[in-house]
Amino acid sequence: MIDSTPEWQRLTARATSVPSLREAFSDDHERAGRFTWDVDGLIVDASKNLIDDDLVEDLIALADAAGLDEARAAMFRGDHINVTEDRAVLHTALRRRRSDRLVVDGQDVVADVHDVLDHMADFAERVRSGAWVGHTGARIRRVVNIGIGGSDLGPFMAYRALMAFRHPEIDVHFVSNVDGTHLHQALVGADPAETLFIVASKTFTTLETLANARSARAWLVEALGSDEAVARHFVALSTNAEGVAAFGIDTENMFGFWDWVGGRYSMDSAIGLSLMIAVGPDRFAEMLDGFRSMDQHFESAPIAENVPAMLGLIGVWYRNMLGYPTHAVLPYSQLLDRFPAYLQQLDMESNGKQVRLDGSTVGHDTGPIVWGEPGTNGQHAFYQLIHQGTTPVPVDFIAFAHPDFETPDHHDALIANCFAQAEALAFGKSAEAVRAEGVPESLVSHKTFPGNRPSTMLFAERLTPFVLGQLIALYEHKVFVQGVIWGINSFDQWGVELGKVLAKAIITELEDGAADAAHDASTSAMIERYRTMRSR
Ligand code: F6P
Repeated sequence: MIDSTPEWQRLTARATSVPSLREAFSDDHERAGRFTWDVDGLIVDASKNLIDDDLVEDLIALADAAGLDEARAAMFRGDHINVTEDRAVLHTALRRRRSDRLVVDGQDVVADVHDVLDHMADFAERVRSGAWVGHTGARIRRVVNIGIGGSDLGPFMAYRALMAFRHPEIDVHFVSNVDGTHLHQALVGADPAETLFIVASKTFTTLETLANARSARAWLVEALGSDEAVARHFVALSTNAEGVAAFGIDTENMFGFWDWVGGRYSMDSAIGLSLMIAVGPDRFAEMLDGFRSMDQHFESAPIAENVPAMLGLIGVWYRNMLGYPTHAVLPYSQLLDRFPAYLQQLDMESNGKQVRLDGSTVGHDTGPIVWGEPGTNGQHAFYQLIHQGTTPVPVDFIAFAHPDFETPDHHDALIANCFAQAEALAFGKSAEAVRAEGVPESLVSHKTFPGNRPSTMLFAERLTPFVLGQLIALYEHKVFVQGVIWGINSFDQWGVELGKVLAKAIITELEDGAADAAHDASTSAMIERYRTMRSR
């Protein structure tokens, strides 16, 4: 068990003497440079983290003790490292070059990936050019992606992030929630003749997605007056051809992927079709290049300079040795407003686990609570707690030298705020400095900032498709590293099952009759209350 190794215990012992950022920076003028890395233009400044050279050595020793090198090789090779589902974990194959070959379970997966990418590109180009028309002959102007979780968050986040590159005549909407309002919102102002639905579901069994897809089909058929319209207005993204056919979508109009792509790791598979329609196959390919840049870095760089590995290890230090329960991601880019939500699924569905690969219970904390909002908005909401609250919150700031939409004066103000927050968190403001400003003694403690609050700065020229791909892959691999250290399976999600099963039973009770006596008293009472109110 990792927590009984000397490497873990050495780090635990260090928690009593956390490095002071103020001293670390004043004693060591090389520090900023030494802990800043550049991966093909993505600058990662980790120097404002609570680390020093000795600690980094200990973190690397922990990675060795956990077998990170071998685990990483096993993932890239296509071993069945998702042991509870007996599957390979090969999202990295989604961005391999066409000329590569990777045979897994007897199949060249890179060839399969490029067949689907070609199919997607052909379809996306036809929609973008107007060659693909709807049932009445009208071109498509609205695309509605119906999916949830990994079949929604990635393309939705990326569509917003890459807004500057999108086709001027095609809007993409995303419907995920089974709350009918969501579908309603996506269809406000939509012309059925010009609307294309993309039903995105790895399993094609997800309740929310199938309910939304059925209602969308009913809306379309009613408006266009024929079931035949479905063929021109519905396509599917899935691994389940049978389910797609049973729903009534021609499998000719299905874009496939494979069980070795986890839902939350799937935005660069066929699940990205809505994004590809929006930004075009070339931009999509640039995004895949960005993913690949980070994959290659992660696969080959020594751990001490390996950005996903180092960020993962620093996260373990915070979570396990210092006991920090959460991690904030604060993009200073409105275009990345859904990035924290995307990372919530990526990180929390992957590492929110309490048993190890062998089923035994872990003896330490695992995945942190991930959260965040774009700056500067968060500054006027929750930053108070980050600066002066009782629990330190490690932060990732994300910023760009150039905005995608230039508005005079705004960008300098945005970036000044970002840099200022990182500085204030790290170095704080001492009581002496507050007194020196003439602040009355009764307010000195209120106006003091403790500092030593850690952050990492991720910085690039601009938010291009390439940089977006790099950023996503960076977090994918960081999550992987942490899962390896904790000895858990980052690639299953059994924790989502129980609620689904119970909801199925309760739906029947809501519709057909009294609550099952097997429920607890609180749940039964809520079911009855709901039924009473609905019958009024
Ligand atoms: O319920 C969780 C989950 O299984 C996620 O892991 C997944 O991304 C999401 O549901 C959607 O699943 P699907 O793509 O199969 O509809």
